[in-house]
Amino acid sequence: MPPCPYDEDSNTEPNSALSKFFVLCLAVAFFLGVISVISHSADYFTGYATAPFVLDKGVIALQPAWRIALFTHVISGIFCIGICALQLSKRIRTRAPRLHRRLGKWFAGVLLFAVLPSGFYLAIFATGGVIGRVGFFLNGFLALCFTISGLLSYRKRHFADHGAWMIRAFAMIAAAISFRYLHAGFDMIGIVGSLGYITSLWGAILLNYIAAELVIWRIKRTTIQAEAKAL
Ligand code: HEM
Repeated sequence: MPPCPYDEDSNTEPNSALSKFFVLCLAVAFFLGVISVISHSADYFTGYATAPFVLDKGVIALQPAWRIALFTHVISGIFCIGICALQLSKRIRTRAPRLHRRLGKWFAGVLLFAVLPSGFYLAIFATGGVIGRVGFFLNGFLALCFTISGLLSYRKRHFADHGAWMIRAFAMIAAAISFRYLHAGFDMIGIVGSLGYITSLWGAILLNYIAAELVIWRIKRTTIQAEAKAL
């Protein structure tokens, strides 16, 4: 069986100084984004009625079902995004494959049975009207399709495909982080309200998807070059 291009042993991942610097910047941005999500989300548990997002939602935030969905979504979403970071670690994938498999099962279970159902429910009432709702549904639908494709390719032992599908799935999950950066950026240049929200949401989905395809393309290209060299 050919080595998986996403593993360390295959020695095919981009390793130039520039690539490493780029990956480091992405990792720092991701980490800071997760910290920001966690610190903002703390408001929902410590002062629900005064949290800015809850105040913006108006009467819908008083409904128990919406509140339960929000709590479920926030807790499971943060859990899932933490697992994403661990699953991307080459060290864990290659040195602790059993842990990788176990975390993968947790990731899929929590995503499919908590993050997505609660996210789809919240999407019905999402900010930004129809365009906002469609954006969240698309985000969730793509995360669902990519994760299922990743699981199926793993079962067929197509590890390179598995890696590519999971990169796409993680990109859709990480849209929750990119969204915050874009939203803050649009806010600074005066694009606020629904327009800022919708643009950030669709921008995050698009940018993350493009980033995932670029990463996959780069890994495939490096694999082909390494195979050609070995001949
Ligand atoms: C796993 C990564 C995710 C995390 C960490 C996350 C986190 C959050 C948080 C903290 C909120 C509360 C609003 C805020 O503080 O800005 C929220 C809202 C929401 N999320 Fe997620 N989320 C994730 C993935 C998803 C996915 C994949 C979907 C797609 C179904 C989704 C749909 C929604 C919706 C619809 C809302 C409510 C937005 C509104 O009412 O305007 N989330 N999410």
